[in-house]
Amino acid sequence: MTTAPRELSAPTFAVVTGEQVQRALDGKEPEIAELVEAVYRLHGAGESVNPPSYFLRFPDRPSSRIIALPASLGGPLRVDGLKWISSFPENTRSGLPRASAVLILNDPATGYPYACLESSVISATRTASSAALAADRLSRDRVRPRRVGFVGTGLIARYIHTHLAATGWEFDEIGVHDLNAESAAGFRGYLERSDAKGRITVHDRAEDLVRSSDLLVFATIAATPHVHDPAWFAHHPLVLHVSLRDLDPRILLDAANIVDDVEHCLKADTSPHLAEKLTGSREFIDGTLYDVLTGRITVPADRTVVFSPFGLGVLDLAVGRFVHDEVARRGELHIVDGFFNELRRYG
Ligand SMILES: NC(=O)c1ccc[n+]([C@@H]2O[C@H](COP(=O)([O-])OP(=O)(O)OC[C@H]3O[C@@H](n4cnc5c(N)ncnc54)[C@H](O)[C@@H]3O)[C@@H](O)[C@H]2O)c1
Repeated sequence: MTTAPRELSAPTFAVVTGEQVQRALDGKEPEIAELVEAVYRLHGAGESVNPPSYFLRFPDRPSSRIIALPASLGGPLRVDGLKWISSFPENTRSGLPRASAVLILNDPATGYPYACLESSVISATRTASSAALAADRLSRDRVRPRRVGFVGTGLIARYIHTHLAATGWEFDEIGVHDLNAESAAGFRGYLERSDAKGRITVHDRAEDLVRSSDLLVFATIAATPHVHDPAWFAHHPLVLHVSLRDLDPRILLDAANIVDDVEHCLKADTSPHLAEKLTGSREFIDGTLYDVLTGRITVPADRTVVFSPFGLGVLDLAVGRFVHDEVARRGELHIVDGFFNELRRYG
């Protein structure tokens, strides 16, 4: 018996622009926080594949890099894919953001890529949402911080403030410190336009900001530690160490340390990696955010707590899929006609 060749519908491929991404995510901060928590739980339960990020560096442009983050997420959020994100810090001199990115989503059934999304916004969103989630969960056993301080006030700091504010945080004091006065002024302008409650103070010295903040956000582009003195943290703040390389390892050794993923975070000369090199051990790591979410560990109220998130590719995939599905639901997907054209094995 002969059977007619099965007519397969051609896989489609969509391009999702930055404008579509921003419209799909606008006002969705609480929903994204729930999604990010769900991803941390799936990752912690082993429902993900998240290999080490690959850093492409250039001998002639040592401050720049492009990072590849392949990943696969299981469970109800199932999706495979790759984030490809550039960091060119000199861009900001001409006003262009430091980071640019695309995200490719692959169909777990066929492997076919089905979408390419502008991803600097997806990346900033998942980073900020994860920081706001960590701020909430890591402060549950302490007096909720009302004095926030931002060290490094670029795009990521702006997104983190937006996600904190949209998930219920209110501050009496907002402190700002940046090596670049224009960045500090730009961030201040954003805060004023966003109607952020609380008194805004721009600090010339990092020390003054650190000493006067209960919740600290580090979002600089420092490649090596520039904050060295554990005494600045004597009041035991909660620290979101998003830029990962600001703190001297001795500050970490004096604190409770929570990471997103131990293997990922103890790499690439992050401060936790330097602390591991200094002590020859990982004992200074108290646990992961998953451990906190599942109640496996409790966070001390009487110590400095440092959250160091390396940034998981599975978070980008989940937020990327959310955006794709939202754009599709609105009937606004730009499908590229004929993207896959060789669809019969023998012609
Ligand atoms: N962990 C994660 O998942 C994750 C994700 C995204 C971005 N990041 C990191 O967040 C950081 C910020 O990104 P961005 O896009 O906002 O960068 P950006 O270039 O827009 O802003 C960085 C700001 O930090 C300031 N700065 C640099 N060194 C400083 C110092 N020693 N003290 C005070 N300010 C300093 C710069 O003047 C600049 O205004 C980067 O390091 C990036 O790699 C982390």
